[in-house]
Amino acid sequence: MTTTTPPSTTIDRDRVAALTERERVRYRERTVRSGEYFARASEVMPGGVPSQFQRNDPWPVYVERGSGARVWDVDGNEYLDFHNGFGVMCVGHANPTVAAAVKARMDEGTHFAAPTEGSIVVAEELRRRWGLPHWRFTNSGTESTMDAIHLARAATGRDVIVKMEGTYHGHHDAVMVSVKPPAELMGDRDRPASVPYGLGYPDGMTALTRAVPFNDAEGLERLLSELDGQVAGLIIEPAMMNVNIVPPVEGYLERVRELTRAHGATLIFDEVKTGAAVAAGGATELYGVKPDVVCLAKAICGGLPGGAIGMTGELAELVGSGKVRQQGTFNGNPLVMAAAQATLVDVLTDEAYAQLHAANRTLMDGCERVIAEYGLPAHTVGMGSKGCVVFSREPVREYRDYLTKIHHDLTNLAWLYHMNHGIFMTPGEDEEWTLSVLHTEADLRRYVEVFETFARDVTAAA
Ligand SMILES: Cc1ncc(COP(=O)(O)O)c(C=O)c1O
Repeated sequence: MTTTTPPSTTIDRDRVAALTERERVRYRERTVRSGEYFARASEVMPGGVPSQFQRNDPWPVYVERGSGARVWDVDGNEYLDFHNGFGVMCVGHANPTVAAAVKARMDEGTHFAAPTEGSIVVAEELRRRWGLPHWRFTNSGTESTMDAIHLARAATGRDVIVKMEGTYHGHHDAVMVSVKPPAELMGDRDRPASVPYGLGYPDGMTALTRAVPFNDAEGLERLLSELDGQVAGLIIEPAMMNVNIVPPVEGYLERVRELTRAHGATLIFDEVKTGAAVAAGGATELYGVKPDVVCLAKAICGGLPGGAIGMTGELAELVGSGKVRQQGTFNGNPLVMAAAQATLVDVLTDEAYAQLHAANRTLMDGCERVIAEYGLPAHTVGMGSKGCVVFSREPVREYRDYLTKIHHDLTNLAWLYHMNHGIFMTPGEDEEWTLSVLHTEADLRRYVEVFETFARDVTAAA
């Protein structure tokens, strides 16, 4: 992790607005066919997309295919992919090892709703990586965190869930609370309000989930003491990954572990994003703090839709006995398991992680050089295959910093520059890049070149 405070350059807001306008026009011109697809898609899919996260202004780029570190859109534009399917594709697109495993499975039947050996192999590998003894499978990150919450409530006989303000854990009722609360609704920092993220959740459900600021162990201690005997579990991303990347401060996760234990609350690590992307054993390995439950999805299945949930022996009893109904027609689907096995056992080896870490360091160093040279109000943060440029001079420690300290207009303009110069990136300030084992040195250099073009234009004298 790196934080740099460059000499100050004053950012000319009018210039940023003019460049944003120019780049928006360029984006529209480069993606005319995507605009046509969007019009057609909007006739049959709300917002023209299969999932709300894929929406974008004025329209999303509709992708045709991907290979290695590259994707091509329906207009024929080629991009180097640093978006990587919201952090799923650490193996790279159409990775030959994963593709061969999936194709072989296709010929042997893809679904039985009966266990196959693949699920045993993957569960054994997850146990090796995370050290938790028991695993079950799901179909998404949302299902993993939903099952984790059921487990916490069942194990404790309590109802209240504690989460961090500003984190996303999927779209089920218990966690669609204080995900991106607007400043006028979020309440006092000492006592954040429980703000529903969208419509459709009963008030009573929302009220059962309480938010606290990330990186504030005293605030958490106060809440747990106030609610003593009521908190079933605490769900937390060990490093927040939906407000750029916000790492935990020294000693914070250790204190979270102590406090949850002292108050009899189940500690759930949501590693859907960090998962197999930041280290073999995810953030659990990186920070050395062991939760009671780990939620996984995204990168573990190499591009097929699947997830997993790891748990202690005690919690596994509740699942094995059927007291907690952890189930699903497609759980442990053989095709998904074939992809997960190839991903975890054959592609994302120790050497692959060493390579990803080194590549991430190179990319962060390149961006840091540009930040320093042009005096941008920014710094880089990263871990494993993931990193980002945070457009703030000061470190961001929690959601409220993200609301107030980040230059949102610069972040959005950087995204437009990337897209218009052939770097496929996650939109806006919420996300980060994810590298794959198929990114080359030249790909990383190209990212930095585009970032430098942006920096030069933004800071050029009028
Ligand atoms: C930290 C975290 N948890 C859970 C989820 C939900 O995962 P899914 O979209 O697979 O349901 C996400 C999705 O982005 C996530 O970032």
